Amino acid sequence: MCGNVSTMARERECMFKIRGAKWIAPGIKRFVIEAPRIARKHQAGQFVILRLDEHGERIPLTIESSDGKEGTISIVVQSVGKTTYQLNAMEAGEAIQDVVGPLGKPSVIEKFGTVVVVGGGVGTALAYPTTAALKRAGNRVLSIVGGRNRDLVILEEEMRAVSDELYVTTDDGSYGEKGLVTDKLRQLLESEAEIQLVLAVGPIPMMKAVADLTREKGVHTVVSLNPIMIDGTGMCGGCRVLVGGKSQFACVHGPEFNAHEVDFEVLMQRNRMYRDAEERALEEYQNRLRGGRESEEPSECLVAGDKQ
Ligand code: FAD
Ligand code: FES
Ligand code: MG
Repeated sequence: MCGNVSTMARERECMFKIRGAKWIAPGIKRFVIEAPRIARKHQAGQFVILRLDEHGERIPLTIESSDGKEGTISIVVQSVGKTTYQLNAMEAGEAIQDVVGPLGKPSVIEKFGTVVVVGGGVGTALAYPTTAALKRAGNRVLSIVGGRNRDLVILEEEMRAVSDELYVTTDDGSYGEKGLVTDKLRQLLESEAEIQLVLAVGPIPMMKAVADLTREKGVHTVVSLNPIMIDGTGMCGGCRVLVGGKSQFACVHGPEFNAHEVDFEVLMQRNRMYRDAEERALEEYQNRLRGGRESEEPSECLVAGDKQ
């Protein structure tokens, strides 16, 4: 795709054009990106690593869906720091310097029987392609999607379409059942005769709480881990996690692992390692924004308005 052209033209041609960009919740945006080779190869559970420009850092993002015919992939991005804020300030028509993938092992898709999928916050977008694949494989799929409040419950309709039953929880009770996704999971573990698999994707404390609950009941549980990743090829060691007492590289051995074997404490500690530098980078980026050199992220009102 990028051969036989001058360097400048090659740079332009090799960039990954954003075909669609839409806020789906405050601080959470869905992008449709032209990436035909990745779209053709993508399987549920895989991710990309992207770099916005030549000075940018590399960040991993799960492929939410792909369209081989259109040659596009979609990603759902939550603004948490410098790079995700910068990405979420981009619009359709702009282009991303590098998108590498699909990376990671695809989710294991089999006919297990009854499967419960637990998605917390943006984790719902990460869980969505695997949920759809589990449903296509003939499983009975019970999904629990949650967020701190109504605005942060995402992809409810998409998840409903690939689930036999869908439960919504919010921490503040502004929508669905008041409580945590783990409260609902506890109820299902008690009321459902047999659950063969639980898949949990979301913040680390949520995944740890799910693992603790299902361990008691002996229900096989899979989590998708989110350690810091750099190269995505098993070479840099950045994404090392401890699973079953052994070091594993989440980018090549995962990102999905048996939840009952994951050392969540080590994962949390390693993810905090660069906190000071990350906060500085975000502060510098926001100072530059105030100087008017980058387009500003819409306010929460604009974001919510865009949802319709
Ligand atoms: P920073 O301020 O730099 O960091 C904020 C926090 O994000 C850090 O404390 C750390 O916990 C984490 N983080 C920072 N840099 C990285 C990095 N290079 N790799 C991984 N984590 C990092 N987020 C989404 O919004 N949508 C997704 O679909 C999604 N999928 C992911 C899939 C995988 C396999 C992994 C490992 C992470 C995924 N994430 C996803 C998390 C996303 O990569 C981080 O939020 C992002 O890298 C933060 O970068 P930042 O510069 O904006 O924030
Ligand atoms: Fe470098 Fe996994 S990201 S080894
Ligand atoms: Mg960063």
